[in-house]
Amino acid sequence: MSAPAPERTQVAIVGGGPAGLMLAHLLRLRGVDSVVLESRPRERVETRQRAGILEHGTVEALREVGADARMDELGLPHDGFELRFAGRGVRVDMQELTGERVMIWAQTEVTKDLIALRLDHGEPLVFDAEVLAVSDVETDSPSVRYRHGGSDGEVHVLHADVVVGADGSYGPSRRAIPEHLVRRFERVYPYSWLGILADVAPSSHELVYARGRTGFALASMRSPSVTRAYIQVPNGTDPQSWADEAIWDELSARFALDDGSFTLSRGPITDKSVTPMRSMVTEPMRHGRLFLAGDAAHIVPPTGAKGLNLAVADVRVLAEALGEWFATKDETLMDAYSDTALRRVWRASHFSWTMTTMLHVDPDGDPFDEQLALSHLHHIESSESARRALAENYRGLALGAL
Ligand code: DHB
Repeated sequence: MSAPAPERTQVAIVGGGPAGLMLAHLLRLRGVDSVVLESRPRERVETRQRAGILEHGTVEALREVGADARMDELGLPHDGFELRFAGRGVRVDMQELTGERVMIWAQTEVTKDLIALRLDHGEPLVFDAEVLAVSDVETDSPSVRYRHGGSDGEVHVLHADVVVGADGSYGPSRRAIPEHLVRRFERVYPYSWLGILADVAPSSHELVYARGRTGFALASMRSPSVTRAYIQVPNGTDPQSWADEAIWDELSARFALDDGSFTLSRGPITDKSVTPMRSMVTEPMRHGRLFLAGDAAHIVPPTGAKGLNLAVADVRVLAEALGEWFATKDETLMDAYSDTALRRVWRASHFSWTMTTMLHVDPDGDPFDEQLALSHLHHIESSESARRALAENYRGLALGAL
């Protein structure tokens, strides 16, 4: 932590992940003060492995706040990606179909840059700040009570005009909305992802999403010399139960092309983890002076990498609304926030669900579902408009286009 955090601010931001940090930066550019409270230590926030694709709008936001130097140096712009099924591949050329590309740049790196920038500005960001209560959000002086520095740490109260809950799907902020006002939508998928990082050059210059006979596989990358890959595994899988060679064998089988033209390069695996998959949306995203953003309000399964992009889209809308309100006391945009954000959330939820169900093999094996998934892939293969629709969703719709 830098200087001691103030006891009063305009916007108290609960959560120092990409949503909370990006919001703090966007607010600063609009002349609005904030304090960011993060429950975990800095090292933990900076080492968490998450997805790695940035939509055009997310790249723009990173540029706006000045967190783009390392991204421009080390990020990998991609024009397209491949879908692979039934032993053949279909390329989706985003650049040609939509005029935009995406950037391969890991969420971990985005987070590191946003933290460094916050500290460079000398703006309050408190790590190890466990939020105990978000209170009085139905009044015009809400507050956040938190304990700083572990279980014997000191308890502080931060008073604010507005509280933003950007504290993930298990964070405390959402509980400040009375239960009877909340609608919750959820879908749990009957499979998880086993993800690896490996010190080997990517086997394909673009991402490959495969529906293999035994399940989904994704070939991604972190740099020209680091491969990131995932395979569908049963829920509850222990990552250590998979030997390295077994992972490579399974990836090879799922990516195989009938013409034999694909070879997977193998190398030392440096990280293995399992991610469960679910979709979740809670409505509304605002109650009184409390606003939710990112995973605190919605979770998407990882297929298509929408989680970070949705979080950034939320806070772009929210920063505009709060900036307007602090400057003029006009509440129009603030009142529209939940509906505006939720339109994009549901679009991304549908897209992520579609990508997931189209590319995974359901272990409970309904042949009807399988034929629908294959039919969707055939449609994408044979129709440019189907490819364009997929590409538009993948590269992300412009703010205000929904
Ligand atoms: C990655 C993750 C995703 O969920 C995805 O759709 C693409 C890439 C990644 O971690 O690289």
